Amino acid sequence: MTTSTATDARPAVLAEGLYKAFGETKALDGVDLRVDRAKVVGLLGPNGAGKTTAVKVLTTLIRPDRGRAFIDGIDVVAEPMRAKARIGLTGQYAAVDERLTGFENLEHVGRLFHMPRSEARERGRELLERFDLVESADRVVKGYSGGMRRRLDIAMSLIARPSVLFLDEPTTGLDPRSRQSVWELIEELVRGGTTTLLTTQYLDEADRLADEIVVIDHGRVIARGTSDELKTTLGGDVLEVTVAPDADVERVVAALAGLACGEITVGAVGAVGGTGSTADVHGDKVVVVPVLKVEHMVPVVVRALDAAGVAFSDVAGRQSTLDDVFFAITGHAAEDASDTAETSPKGKSGKAAAKAAKQGKQGKQTEQMTKEAGR
Ligand SMILES: Nc1ncnc2c1ncn2[C@@H]1O[C@H](COP(=O)(O)OP(=O)(O)OP(=O)(O)O)[C@@H](O)[C@H]1O
Ligand SMILES: [Mg+2]
Repeated sequence: MTTSTATDARPAVLAEGLYKAFGETKALDGVDLRVDRAKVVGLLGPNGAGKTTAVKVLTTLIRPDRGRAFIDGIDVVAEPMRAKARIGLTGQYAAVDERLTGFENLEHVGRLFHMPRSEARERGRELLERFDLVESADRVVKGYSGGMRRRLDIAMSLIARPSVLFLDEPTTGLDPRSRQSVWELIEELVRGGTTTLLTTQYLDEADRLADEIVVIDHGRVIARGTSDELKTTLGGDVLEVTVAPDADVERVVAALAGLACGEITVGAVGAVGGTGSTADVHGDKVVVVPVLKVEHMVPVVVRALDAAGVAFSDVAGRQSTLDDVFFAITGHAAEDASDTAETSPKGKSGKAAAKAAKQGKQGKQTEQMTKEAGR
């Protein structure tokens, strides 16, 4: 963007050991963060996790008690004004002025950034066009829908062409269509090279938008990685083979041992978060095989079982979701579990999967959490 060059190797955002307490509450308890240029980091966590506090520290709105943070290498505590000039912020609560029109809001923000009036107006028109708000430009914001307000709010944070954009829960409270349009907008900004740190409670949002996901709870980072990495290490895909009550389970396990990436477990159908398709068959058992990637595995399993000459009644594959991951590392479902189920095709199986994840992945959770705690 205007304030940094593509060859600049410094991370766009760097935070080390951020600590912030409000009375007894440790809102941030040693948070490290890094966002590389033109990447998206998703800060994921439930209510009260410390997301907004992290954003406020990084955008110079509050000072950390301890720790350091840099925007494009500029120390946010030592040089807040210089850091601020690089930043665009869309806060958790809309900053639009309801009494002004969309165009006037943009012009007003431009003027706050000391732009000459003509430049503020030109930039405002450009952003209205880009955010599909031209038709509503001259209407007062009071009559805007939630999605339109959010788009205007994001447009306002881009007026001064920031190099780093902070979006605090950009789609909370929006209906699925508006969420979709905000997501597309963010994706377009990222394609254009804007570095973005976004906070969210929505697993599907982090999954879709973020290059890297940092999960926080109680002010501490409890996991980080790409969506795939988190799913693989903490959620994990599984294959479920349903067998009759009198089946030779040991032979089934032996036949599938070569495919597993972890310990194979055996339980009663329904007790291990199965798909439910055979849950009504009394006394059936389900053999749960953890695998790295479940795709294309079902025929392989069927062939292996046939070759071993063992009987089975069903084979099903189940992909892990970020719901599994969240459940596995926090011990509770994401705050918006029901919302996610509505908007994500993966959401429903996620809840059942979370149960299995809790039962089957305890060892890995502890390992990952220990790793994070020692950072
Ligand atoms: N100004 C404040 N005074 C007192 N406590 C605060 C203040 N700001 C935040 N907190 C507390 O710090 C913790 C972290 O709050 P924060 O707003 O950062 O969470 P969050 O992850 O953004 O949550 P949400 O998803 O609800 O927006 C909470 O326990 C909150 O009550
Ligand atoms: Mg918040």
